Amino acid sequence: MVHSYFSARPAWAEINLDHIAHNVKQFRQQIGPMTQIMAVVKADGYGHGAAKIAETALHSGASSLAVAFVEEAVELRLSGLDVPILLLGYTDPSQFSSLVQYRLTPTVFGWETALNFSALAVEHDVVLPLHLKVDTGMGRIGLLPDEAGEVAARVARLPGLKIEGIFTHLAAAEESDETYTREQLLLFNRIIESCGESGVAFPLVHAANSAAAINHPSARYNLVRLGLSMYGCYPAPDLEGKGPELLPALTFKSRVILVKEVPGGSAISYGCTYRTEKESLIATIPVGYADGYNRLLSNRGHVLIRGCRAPVVGNVCMDQLMVDVTHIPGVRLNDEVVLYGRQGAEQVSVEEAAGQIGTINYELLCAVDKRVPRYYYQEGKLSSILDYIGERIVCLGS
Ligand SMILES: Cc1ncc(COP(=O)(O)O)c(C=O)c1O
Repeated sequence: MVHSYFSARPAWAEINLDHIAHNVKQFRQQIGPMTQIMAVVKADGYGHGAAKIAETALHSGASSLAVAFVEEAVELRLSGLDVPILLLGYTDPSQFSSLVQYRLTPTVFGWETALNFSALAVEHDVVLPLHLKVDTGMGRIGLLPDEAGEVAARVARLPGLKIEGIFTHLAAAEESDETYTREQLLLFNRIIESCGESGVAFPLVHAANSAAAINHPSARYNLVRLGLSMYGCYPAPDLEGKGPELLPALTFKSRVILVKEVPGGSAISYGCTYRTEKESLIATIPVGYADGYNRLLSNRGHVLIRGCRAPVVGNVCMDQLMVDVTHIPGVRLNDEVVLYGRQGAEQVSVEEAAGQIGTINYELLCAVDKRVPRYYYQEGKLSSILDYIGERIVCLGS
């Protein structure tokens, strides 16, 4: 338990681990006992801090983890997690020794890579588990449907390799028009069937991301790969109310570091893109685009102070932004500011901010920078702090 803590910068993200647990448990109940949950914690757990999220997800019903590449997986192993970790992206055979040392499962989607891995496994007298990836319509990594059956059969005969799973990724599972997803699943089923005919069976078969886990029960097979929904966000607004009730886990917070009264006509921030219309109260917040608060939110975004919305005025700077608080009574130095999340009855969701700048909630969550410490809450209490630039932090007590 953390008793007291002093951070040099009044900017932090609160991560509610009970919400992560709730979200995973909701899926656990809905998808049935025959389907495993793989918690996707790449990109530092979508900005939430991979190790804590992984640990919480595993306690709440997930049985394996997925990241994009070796280094992300090594971080999880070093934090003491012992479950299977799938590398969703490309793993170069030059990283073979890390795969063995840290017991990682690469994704293979090319004959040559399989051949290289097989030679290395034989040379080191080990068996390397892997998942095969097929491209049924996403258009990025994956064996094409025409070659998948034949390559799978050949890989299955290579010494030193053990195919533990086969998977594909759905390109449009969040769309209300289900045609494309149905076509992808049809192709995927045909590939698995043809592999079966040539005697290749897969212990794990998976296709579903969050959207498919919610929207397409037939895509669940015996494992779903949950990313965004585990963090409490919906991949598309249409999915709200369809699947489990999700609770967002991240709140991005700061404090007011200055409030000043400026006359009408005052320019605010670089480029003087905002001028006050009348005498105004302007508050400075010590968060900028280097912290992951997107500069496109200049003159567009809102934050919450004293339970009220305050518009971002002028350009967001690297380390600071300004908001107009003229309409909010009593704003003072050190008042808490919510950049994403709830305060009182008000909310500024990542979806709102993403919508304002033409991007998606995924990107804004991943963008919360490592300058911002993560404060983990469990059962309403601060349970631990992840500070990526800890030298500047003084921990009081333990
Ligand atoms: C291959 C793969 N599977 C699963 C996921 C998780 O997707 P989501 O965050 O939509 O649940 C991702 C995320 O990008 C992915 O790339």
